[in-house]
Amino acid sequence: MAASTPHDASSEEEALILEVVRDIVAQKVAPRAAEIDARAEYPQDLRELFAQNDLLGIPIPVEYGGLGGSFVTYVKVVEEIAKACASSSLIVAVQELGMLPILIGGNEAQKQRYLPNVASGKWIAAYALTESGSGSDAAGSMRTRAEKKGDAYVLNGQKIWITNGSVADVVCVFAVTDPAKGANGISAFIVEKTFPGFVVGKHEKKMGIRGSPTVELIFDNCEVPAANLLGNEGEGFKIAMKVLDKSRPGIAAQALGIAQGALDYAAAYAQERIAFGKPIGHQQGVGFMLADMKTEVESARLLLYEAARKCDAGAADVTLWAAMAKLKCGDVAMSVTTDAVQVLGGYGYSAEYPLERMMRDAKITQIYEGTQQIQRLVISRALAGRGKPVKATPNT
Ligand code: CAA
Repeated sequence: MAASTPHDASSEEEALILEVVRDIVAQKVAPRAAEIDARAEYPQDLRELFAQNDLLGIPIPVEYGGLGGSFVTYVKVVEEIAKACASSSLIVAVQELGMLPILIGGNEAQKQRYLPNVASGKWIAAYALTESGSGSDAAGSMRTRAEKKGDAYVLNGQKIWITNGSVADVVCVFAVTDPAKGANGISAFIVEKTFPGFVVGKHEKKMGIRGSPTVELIFDNCEVPAANLLGNEGEGFKIAMKVLDKSRPGIAAQALGIAQGALDYAAAYAQERIAFGKPIGHQQGVGFMLADMKTEVESARLLLYEAARKCDAGAADVTLWAAMAKLKCGDVAMSVTTDAVQVLGGYGYSAEYPLERMMRDAKITQIYEGTQQIQRLVISRALAGRGKPVKATPNT
């Protein structure tokens, strides 16, 4: 299989990390990818391997046990793993998603307690925002309640589609503390799996990312110490949104990796497969498809790396860039994997080859961490503003 173009590392440290990751992917991840998908099994061995190689705490500051690496490095790592196995790339991406509420909204004591355990991979983290009636409209339709009773908050409600929910030791949960205040009545809590009333519910059976557990979480009078409130009451939704600004590039990186993996496979096949007396890649119909796939992948990559640089710089327009990166990379993953299946023809459709898995895995990148429609909403609001209802002027 043709190797993808190596992309310049922005520092010596990043180059070393990427070298280690490429080696792990070639030796340990790629050979397991088909089996992980077929058995829909969370790869504990790979979680341990990633932890041993410090890949679960890349953007966590050194003082909290992380590598203190950049978001650019982090997205490149997710991309490398996703080239071979989208499910395994989520082990790294969701560890970041789950720890970000603490990094962004946590006080010193909370950071000291949780971040080193997450950075080392001793604890797995998850992020619980979505509910059965509350996906895109995350604030308006949230029903999970948190009521203060003495020194604790009592959580009641249910979250769904929680990636890593069944393997997580610590989950950042968003719940309504003041229903009268809308988005400003939502608070964020750090919930440990051992807290009474924390229950793992139904496991989803999914089209793709089958090696990554997606579950329902139920909070049944779940008692959370008041010390585990992140920030102040009512700040939870803003924390949730700031987290997505930094985690959407991680999903964009997963999407880009899937697309690159599919392109590499299709390009190699097109050089070997002979039809009408020559390799199919030398026939314009297929050659031009490959040209478009490559152009799309590289455009997506430039947008993603710029979004990651914005995360590192704490840029004011990071919300816009994170949304654009997720939108572009997700759409490129879907179109490139679909075309890669087409290049292989019947072999592309067969489960004996990796492309149908890549196409199934690509689809989720257009849905989670905000659908492509929500990314467009975020982008258009950045350009045209949030807007207020305008009173119609009567015709005279
Ligand atoms: N940073 C800081 N504050 C922000 C913000 C941001 N990026 N975005 C919004 N806010 C603030 C607003 O300024 C506003 O504050 P004020 O009340 O003080 O003015 C408040 O939050 C409410 O914002 P909006 O009025 O814009 O809220 P909205 O109800 O219109 O919703 C939305 C905005 C963009 C649609 C948001 O609900 C959204 O992103 N929805 C999609 C949810 C999503 O992505 N879910 C993914 C779940 S996680 C997942 O999928 C992970 C996985 O499995 C791997």
